[in-house]
Amino acid sequence: MNPDELANLIASRRSNIFIDPESVVSDIQIEQMLNAAQWAPNHKRTWPLRVAVVRGESRHGLGEVIAGAMAFRGDDEKKVTKTRTKYLRAPVIFVVASAVGETANETEENKYAVAAGIQNLLLTAEAMGLAALWSSPAKGANDVITSFCSMDNTDHVLGIVYVGTAKKEAPPAPRPPVRITYLN
Ligand SMILES: Cc1cc2nc3c(=O)[nH]c(=O)nc-3n(C[C@H](O)[C@H](O)[C@H](O)COP(=O)(O)O)c2cc1C
Repeated sequence: MNPDELANLIASRRSNIFIDPESVVSDIQIEQMLNAAQWAPNHKRTWPLRVAVVRGESRHGLGEVIAGAMAFRGDDEKKVTKTRTKYLRAPVIFVVASAVGETANETEENKYAVAAGIQNLLLTAEAMGLAALWSSPAKGANDVITSFCSMDNTDHVLGIVYVGTAKKEAPPAPRPPVRITYLN
């Protein structure tokens, strides 16, 4: 791949929630996306990436536990109700978390590594012709999500990523020019 091809791939990736929930994402594709995430740079090689692959009925379970945490916090009832079924919108949901480090700084840098890994994952999905969307976990739901996903309760969930085949294109998301300072 030459730099222009890579630039095109990067710029083509869109956050797209218009996913066919009946579409198929193979185990091989899942492994390729997750291996790409593991290839992100990682200070001190702490390998903080933690992922749960949520499919089938478990998508319902994920929505239920998050909705429960939202209701407990007193979140808007409509949002709580929507959350119960929102993960049924894609055939595959990746819950992506970052492990705690030995220091506060390491914990922070672990998150950078996992965030970079999510971008690798999204670009791999794009290269496979799949649609994906990185969504934020609901506030106050970290404990129920890590427990549901059999992760450590010190893991920090950075994203809940929907993946599947697009049923509609995502709207464009143009970028402003980069703010650059050249120091010669
Ligand atoms: C940390 C993070 C959290 C995000 N959370 C959400 C979310 O909860 N819901 C959503 O629709 N999009 C979410 N997004 C996607 C952004 O809205 C999206 O990247 C932005 O609109 C630019 O569009 P593009 O990804 O198509 O370039 C998130 C992105 C990041 C990096």
